[in-house]
Amino acid sequence: MEILVITGSPHKKGTSALLADNFISGASEAGHSVFRFDTIFHVTQPCLGCNYCRSHHHDCIQEDDMELIWDKLIAADVVALVTPLYYYGMSAQLKKVVDRFYAVEDLLQAGRKKAVLLATCADACLEAMDALVAHFKSICRYLKWDIAGQVLACGVSERKDIEASEYGKLAWDLGAAL
Ligand SMILES: Cc1cc2nc3c(=O)[nH]c(=O)nc-3n(C[C@H](O)[C@H](O)[C@H](O)COP(=O)(O)O)c2cc1C
Repeated sequence: MEILVITGSPHKKGTSALLADNFISGASEAGHSVFRFDTIFHVTQPCLGCNYCRSHHHDCIQEDDMELIWDKLIAADVVALVTPLYYYGMSAQLKKVVDRFYAVEDLLQAGRKKAVLLATCADACLEAMDALVAHFKSICRYLKWDIAGQVLACGVSERKDIEASEYGKLAWDLGAAL
């Protein structure tokens, strides 16, 4: 399968990066092809809501690093969204990219894709992830994507916290099980 992983943390070696790394290792070991897009290393603009895409065959009027992933996004069998919890939702870095799905959303809805959520947060209570999970489910429902799995890593403020946890293994297993 073709897998697109989109990460939303500003930390190259942060907690959610560990989940992404492990998920990708598991998926690669299982023979899947993975393309990783780290939002923090790319320039992406927010959606302008201009609807240019609606009359221009899914082309977005903006020229930025979304051009690196349009084809990958449309072709992907699995899209993995990876984010730290920021004020009970996904990071703005990731949300910017998700909003840009708008340009190709009818293609995404037709694709019967699967989706994965990998998220980390400092709060030790799983309830801290409720709004993020509800949002993720709504996105998947709207895009007609099946949820393939999620890893919600709570109580991990820093890298050392997640390194001492089982969450990395859960992410690896999820990638390998796709
Ligand atoms: C702007 C900001 C907002 C945050 N909001 C929350 C939050 O709502 N709940 C929570 O438990 N942790 C929150 N955190 C903590 C991060 O989710 C946590 O440290 C996470 O492990 C960071 O992931 P990263 O290392 O991949 O960037 C926030 C951190 C930042 C910088």
